Amino acid sequence: MIVYYNGDYLPKSSVSVSPDDRGFIFGDGVYEVVRSYNNRLFEIDAHIKRLSRSLRELRIKFDPVQEFKSVAASLISKNNLQNKDATIYIQITRGAAKRAHAFPSDDVPPTVYACASEFTASPEKQKKGVSVILTPDIRWTRCDIKSISLLPNVLGNQMAKENNAGETVFVRDNTITEGTHTNVFAVINNEVFTHPKNNFILGGITRDVVIDCCASCGIKINEESITEKNFFSADEIFLSGTTADITPVIQVNDTPIGKGIPGSVTMLLQDEFARRIEILK
Ligand code: PDD
Repeated sequence: MIVYYNGDYLPKSSVSVSPDDRGFIFGDGVYEVVRSYNNRLFEIDAHIKRLSRSLRELRIKFDPVQEFKSVAASLISKNNLQNKDATIYIQITRGAAKRAHAFPSDDVPPTVYACASEFTASPEKQKKGVSVILTPDIRWTRCDIKSISLLPNVLGNQMAKENNAGETVFVRDNTITEGTHTNVFAVINNEVFTHPKNNFILGGITRDVVIDCCASCGIKINEESITEKNFFSADEIFLSGTTADITPVIQVNDTPIGKGIPGSVTMLLQDEFARRIEILK
């Protein structure tokens, strides 16, 4: 595998990251995951914009973010992923310096890493839906920053795995925020509801596309949080994300949602989403 590391393309096995790297020591960095459908980068400009924002919010200095457009394209071709479904992972940390909590001096460069890997989608999950489980949202209150510090998300997703669920969904103050790596939508009386874009969720790129798909399909979208109680009685639920596309949710904990099968609004949005990806190809 050829990866990008601090300006160079090189075999992954020859990358050596310093043990002093603040990503390793403090989780002091940001990341993005971009999807490539048959050599077309999905919403790359939006991902770059979000990456710049995350860097700015954490005061990590790395200006040439636009270069990731060509880096992502190069990684796809250098790894022969042109005709495949793939993801590009991008990570920037505050660099390597003697351990001290406060920022290192300005001459310490950030550590920049990117790689591309083949992605195997789950048509079965998209078609039949998944179950989710709920857990208290124990994360910090800057979930809008795509930080590499993901312990609650890691623990939450492990919980899903151990319970044979497709995702774990966080609940804060009796409202549904988002999943461990997905945004969450509910359909109630043919209207779609999702948590507003604020500091309690990551503003998902796929979430924005879903909102746009709702407009195209004439479906009313409400960026309003859903209570835990209303979540269980929703007509339909679905997840969105770079690696989830639109995934129907058919069960929450032990409760079936709607008829326990993917709902009609979800399927309409899946069709519209698929049409947009198809145009890309
Ligand atoms: N995660 N919420 C969280 C907490 C996420 O980590 C993600 C994405 C999303 C969906 O955002 P987007 O539509 O931009 O992918 C929502 C990536 C895929 C990951 O951590 O692997």
